[in-house]
Amino acid sequence: MTRTEGPSLACVIGRARRLACAAVGGYSHTSPPRRRRMLLDQLARPLRSLRLSVTDRCNLRCAYCMPEPDYVWLPRAELCDFAELAELAALFAGLGVDRIRLTGGEPLLRRDVPALVALLAARLGAERHAAPLAGPGAGRPELALTTNGILLADQARALRAAGLDRLTVSLDTLRPERFAALTRRDAHREVLGGIEAARAAGFGARGDEPLKLDMVVMRGVNDDEVVPMLDFARELGAELRFIEYMDVGGATRWRADAVVSRAELLVAVGRRLGVPEPLAGRGSAPAERFRLPTGQVFGIVASTTSPFCLACDRARLTADGMLFLCLYASQGVDLKTPLRRGAPRAELAALLATVWGARAARGAEERLAESERAPLVPASQLRKNPHLEMHKRGG
Ligand code: 5AD
Ligand code: SF4
Repeated sequence: MTRTEGPSLACVIGRARRLACAAVGGYSHTSPPRRRRMLLDQLARPLRSLRLSVTDRCNLRCAYCMPEPDYVWLPRAELCDFAELAELAALFAGLGVDRIRLTGGEPLLRRDVPALVALLAARLGAERHAAPLAGPGAGRPELALTTNGILLADQARALRAAGLDRLTVSLDTLRPERFAALTRRDAHREVLGGIEAARAAGFGARGDEPLKLDMVVMRGVNDDEVVPMLDFARELGAELRFIEYMDVGGATRWRADAVVSRAELLVAVGRRLGVPEPLAGRGSAPAERFRLPTGQVFGIVASTTSPFCLACDRARLTADGMLFLCLYASQGVDLKTPLRRGAPRAELAALLATVWGARAARGAEERLAESERAPLVPASQLRKNPHLEMHKRGG
């Protein structure tokens, strides 16, 4: 599986070779104030954000992500090591990426993630000065991480010290028994401890980007906790984001009637806490943000009922170095093999520039247009092609 939804890999590599060393020619200028040159895809979307999965393993089995009894894992030898991940991250940064988020599976299951963060911070900081695309004063890309929080208590301080800028913790319920039913592991207390430790380590401290909590809302499962979760986030000083249940690969139990829509969420919140006022300036961020009359700000990621494909600036890299241009893409492009064969940086940059330049994916919007929506990929097919799993490409 080495093709993307555009041209074949052979064709892409051929073009990439011809383009090698001339990659910068493919960029267009954006207007001030950003003053950065950016690589644009077929729908004029820049490459700005990278989700870097560091492992496909997870210590939870969330019903919306990993509901099956067992899974096929990537062989360890296939995983990119830290040096390879840093090399790939630097490649993306050189082409305009200014936000990198480490994901999983559960990223903290990978040994010594703080060391990876430190390596990325050092490497990308140095790279930025040399990068042809960095505008004046451009700092290194922002480093963020999404975790389920179980292993966070032990690592929060080290992650902060290593240079992690932002943190998002997934939390779907405040009830320990419900957590156990939803995730098949009795670990609610560890997650709450992890969130506390993150606050104590300075994530979401004043003047900083807030600590974020992500809640996937499912009808009949946790939709009665929308307001209690907002109260919890307010007390913590964190920003809660409600995520619509998506029919991505891995969500084999997805049903349209289990989705609690953005519209329903706004009604439920408004009824109890007053009308939420939309905040301007969403940019390419998946979340729309709202302010309550109390001043509390929260977000909604409405990927299922009102997808934002036309603003999507994300690339996703699996832990074994496969590039996916969309959460819904059925095929990826293998970056690890040319990297391991020692391909020169310019060749890899040209390959990436060509692949992004051919990108036309609008997966979530295409799903929305389908009349009979069922799970994207049946469980039997996921077993044959595990790269289709959400937990492989970083939730
Ligand atoms: N729907 C919505 N979000 C999902 N995630 C994983 N699977 C799904 C799904 N089917 C996301 C959630 C979760 C993160 C780890 O992955 O945001 O918090
Ligand atoms: Fe693990 Fe995240 Fe998937 Fe839950 S949603 S099973 S925590 S990867």
